[in-house]
Amino acid sequence: MKHYLQFKDLRADEYAYLFERADFIKRKFKAVEKYQPFADPDRTLAMIFEKASTRTRVSFEAGMYQMGGSVVHLTTGDSQLGRSEPIEDTARVISRMVDLVMIRTFEQSKIERFAAHSRVPVINGLTNEFHPCQILADLFTWLEHRGRRSDGTLDPGALRGITVAWVGDGNNMANTWLQAAQILGFRVHISTPRGYEVDPAVAGVPRGDFWQVFDDPMEACRGADLVTTDVWTSMGYEAENEARQKAFAAWRVTPAMMAQAKPEALFMHCLPAHRGEEVDAEVIDGPQSVVWDEAENRMHVQKALMEYLLLGRL
Ligand code: CP
Ligand code: NVA
Repeated sequence: MKHYLQFKDLRADEYAYLFERADFIKRKFKAVEKYQPFADPDRTLAMIFEKASTRTRVSFEAGMYQMGGSVVHLTTGDSQLGRSEPIEDTARVISRMVDLVMIRTFEQSKIERFAAHSRVPVINGLTNEFHPCQILADLFTWLEHRGRRSDGTLDPGALRGITVAWVGDGNNMANTWLQAAQILGFRVHISTPRGYEVDPAVAGVPRGDFWQVFDDPMEACRGADLVTTDVWTSMGYEAENEARQKAFAAWRVTPAMMAQAKPEALFMHCLPAHRGEEVDAEVIDGPQSVVWDEAENRMHVQKALMEYLLLGRL
């Protein structure tokens, strides 16, 4: 049994397989053809949200139903988690009744404790430290736009050697980009304000030549194939919002910053976005932005991931 708690839980060959499956599954969806590997026997996904969500909830829930399965949705407030039932006991109980669990929570240690007591695979739907499903979707999106072979199939090898510029907070998304770079062989240029740097110990990556830190976000974007950012204040850090608004003022992705990147560079943002804060409207609503594809692709890649965790390679 495999869990997906952080990006480095899978190998490069497993990612190549997932991109190929996501492409197949997306084609079925676009052709309005049924694809229901979870219909018989019926498979159930439990989703536990301790933080808000739009994309993660809809993509997992719609994806599971489309594949013929069922979904149970819990939040802290409407479950016994909100009344201090231990996460270990919650894991023991829920995993006796469902086939798969997705959790969005605060500390990574909490999802790890859940997984340690679960009988079924557990997927990280975002923690303070990581957001692996989002990076899975982002990489698939990059391959769709820039990594197709002449016969139309995706070439996961096209990710090798590209440069991703990360502008903003050294947060769960930044940590996950670093893990992905190490596994899939690309480079990350990171620029964060002082005090908001990535901690390699938290990110779970060595200091290495695959990532480089820049004081100036403009410099980080120079020659990049992809420029990406995220909110200045992640969920759970709201008390720091005022200080963050001041500290991050120069870390807004502007048209001038995009002009430093390659002319064919893409812009990504996991969403939700704040136009005029971490990104200008001209960028996120401009021709280089692929944010709506990123959001849609959450569903296609997660279908491939759920299929792999439950049924293995097909
Ligand atoms: N990107 C993302 O995870 O969005 P939600 O918070 O809406 O799920
Ligand atoms: N870094 C953001 C991502 C939201 C999808 C957060 O954790 O709130």
